[in-house]
Amino acid sequence: MTQAVQLFVNAAQVVTCAGPARARRGAEQADAGVRDAVGVAVGPDGRVLAVAPDAELRAAHPGAALVDCAQGVLTPGFVDSHTHAIFGRARYEEQELRATGVSYQEIARRGGGIHSSVRDLRQRSADELVALAAARLRRLAAHGTTTVEVKSGYGLSLESELTTLRVIRRLAAELPLRLVPTFLGAHEVPLEYREAPRSREAYIALVTEEMIPAVAAEGLAAFCDVFCEPHVYSADETRRILGAARAAGLALKLHADELENGAAAELAAELGATSADHLAAISEQGIAALAAGGTVATLLPGTMLFLGRPRQAPARALVTAGVPVALASDFNPGTSPTVNFPLVLTLGVSQLRLSVGEAFVAATVNGAAALNRASDLGQLAPGFHADLALFDVRDHREIPYWYGDNRCVRTWVGGRQAHPA
Ligand code: NIG
Ligand code: FE
Repeated sequence: MTQAVQLFVNAAQVVTCAGPARARRGAEQADAGVRDAVGVAVGPDGRVLAVAPDAELRAAHPGAALVDCAQGVLTPGFVDSHTHAIFGRARYEEQELRATGVSYQEIARRGGGIHSSVRDLRQRSADELVALAAARLRRLAAHGTTTVEVKSGYGLSLESELTTLRVIRRLAAELPLRLVPTFLGAHEVPLEYREAPRSREAYIALVTEEMIPAVAAEGLAAFCDVFCEPHVYSADETRRILGAARAAGLALKLHADELENGAAAELAAELGATSADHLAAISEQGIAALAAGGTVATLLPGTMLFLGRPRQAPARALVTAGVPVALASDFNPGTSPTVNFPLVLTLGVSQLRLSVGEAFVAATVNGAAALNRASDLGQLAPGFHADLALFDVRDHREIPYWYGDNRCVRTWVGGRQAHPA
């Protein structure tokens, strides 16, 4: 079905993020291309035709359908480049345990945490997982997100990892959202591989020799990710797993230096990973290594907030060093059960000390770059996909300001309304 030209008019502001079709670093990350008194024209192909004063757009497209933005603020839809959205039950009991002083790592040692989600997911059918994730992804969409990276990683067996990735493929076909699938078979070493006759070596062999080839053969993932962290996967193990992934044609991501430093950022740079994510425990050398390469630093401030940890990633040092910074939700049942991307912007400004412009670029252009999609997502500029979010505010700075609230009223993906459904 072809649609007519649409004109998004009567906006108080448009956050365009227009500029080079690549990750923005250093001083250029601060420019979110905010414009007053303009509208957006979207072509029948679902791509942006022009951003110009309303009167000019109306004169150029006399027969166009009009979308009244009612003096709200229009932005590129958020590109949430890091989620673990396929899971079963919520893990609220761990929040209270942490409050009493039991750490995230200690909960994992006791067989909870990721292991608890693995036990749960393995018992569920694909249909159940689709239904649970669809409802959750619609909540993300209701907050202004239009592209979501979704990781596997709660299956940790060949069968359950493939099931999870097929669930993501079904959701991508059913939902009005762009989904980018990531294989995270190395999210943990499953408990059944910790005692003889099995071993962690045997699990790594399963990941590299069976899972990755199967995922690649079925075209089920764009990326491979590893939880590279002391007590989870070492830098050496991560190098082997990501080496196999690259050989199979997958692009690379790392959960890097999230809780303790393990020189994972340095490894991400060495491997030329598309992104290094978390980085709350990155070192000076890690920052320098990322700055020298092209890897995007994806920061997840909701995770450190929810875990109650005092240290956030050194966002200012990363920007100053020239590392492109992205923001993402890390939506998952253990460390970041939030669907609220505007809240992530709030944390980006108030906790990471990004400027509002830097935070918007982090949530759009640089999120797209963290998914190798900066060429067609993340900007309101001619030729880019018309993925838009409309907020009931008069100034874009109100979006991170009204923290915890959701001012998003509508979203569009490729020019078609996605939220409300
Ligand atoms: O990004 N760190 C590893 N993975 C997730 C948490 C997963 C979980 O606890 O279920 C994260 O924090
Ligand atoms: Fe994560």
